[in-house]
Amino acid sequence: MTTPDTMFKRIVDDASRPDPYPLYAELRRTPVARQEDGTYLVSTYHEIVALLHDPRLSSDPHNREDAPPDLSAEAGLAPAFIRMDPPDHDRLRAQTMRLFGPPHNPARVYGMRDELTRISTGLIDGFAVRYDGGERIDIVDEFAYPFPVTVICALMGVPRDDEHLFKEWADALIQTLDPRLDPGLQRQAMTEMGQYMAALIGRHRQDPGDDMLSGMITEGLLPPETLVTTAIMLFIAGHETTVNLITNGMLTLLRRPEVLDRLRREPELMPGAVEELLRYEPPVHMLSPRGALADIEVAGVTIPKGASVVLVLASGNRDPKRFRDPDVFDPAREDNQHFGFGSGIHSCFGAPLARLETQIALTGLIRRLRDPRLVADPPPYRSNPRLRGPEHLFIEHG
Ligand code: HEM
Repeated sequence: MTTPDTMFKRIVDDASRPDPYPLYAELRRTPVARQEDGTYLVSTYHEIVALLHDPRLSSDPHNREDAPPDLSAEAGLAPAFIRMDPPDHDRLRAQTMRLFGPPHNPARVYGMRDELTRISTGLIDGFAVRYDGGERIDIVDEFAYPFPVTVICALMGVPRDDEHLFKEWADALIQTLDPRLDPGLQRQAMTEMGQYMAALIGRHRQDPGDDMLSGMITEGLLPPETLVTTAIMLFIAGHETTVNLITNGMLTLLRRPEVLDRLRREPELMPGAVEELLRYEPPVHMLSPRGALADIEVAGVTIPKGASVVLVLASGNRDPKRFRDPDVFDPAREDNQHFGFGSGIHSCFGAPLARLETQIALTGLIRRLRDPRLVADPPPYRSNPRLRGPEHLFIEHG
């Protein structure tokens, strides 16, 4: 018999990365499954949503009996609000949010629309002629990576030329379930990134611009000791996630030429198509483990106080008890309350930006690229089972 343990080992195995969904379907037979190591896996929609809104489930890793090393503290940095609970989380999130969106800064994201279109068009123009001439193009390296990274640099006031440093740090820091992970590398990345960000904050303090980091410094809303960590968190959270959503999006459309054609003819469907992508092929498959602050009963199972709980969002997104025909990609789907951006008090801070970027990116790509064809299906995937996406996506003129 396949136990939840062996099931999870199969899910995190690299061989399952191209299509983990049949394994999630098996996992959902045990909505709350205890692993040999004492971790609980939750894979069904209604149980995930209940737990995401349950204050007895903590995002602070110190509340887990198997707490991992605290890299921020070791690097002398304050914790980021993604790893905090109320009331501290709510206060810091609200203070940061003031600089990012309505009502205080409505233009921060939506005012970037023209700039986003300009950056996206520039990148596409950079490879379109080679594509027309029959050259193979890697959508990841030529577009899906540089686009959101250029945007987050502009938003945060990070010099684009320094981005290569961030790529290495971000790669090391993005948490994975990979047992081969080297904590020494992560420690070093956190320390170096902290030093870089502290120096950049110093420069913006002397000579502020109209970027978000300058706002965080000059408005004085955030406690000074949290500035470095908040900046690092925003930068990293805005990196790999959007890259994967754009790449997963192109892959999904290239596999469905009729949907691609429809979106070309009816671009007004793109916002709904992006929501469906966040359900059907989300970048974030599992959240970082949360800790039970008390015994919590869910689906007839008692999760004991101190246990680690992993919410498998991508499985909840395909739960037939919540979504009709969950394995069908339907760009016009209604009633699509997906977990692509999480849910509850920690739901994605950057969602308005990520949505806009992906809508602009996919609209621009499918409008410009005539008869695109996938070179390899499935494409090669990154190893990370939690933050899932192709490493490369080669296309050519079909
Ligand atoms: C397609 C792109 C993105 C996806 C799929 C995504 C997904 C998510 C998810 C699932 C969470 C919930 C984490 C949890 O509950 O533990 C989250 C939180 C967060 N995201 Fe995103 N994200 C994306 C883009 C961005 C961008 C562009 C930014 C920054 C500008 C950002 C900033 C954050 C922050 C700060 C949090 C923590 C919120 C909190 O703890 O209150 N994200 N994101």
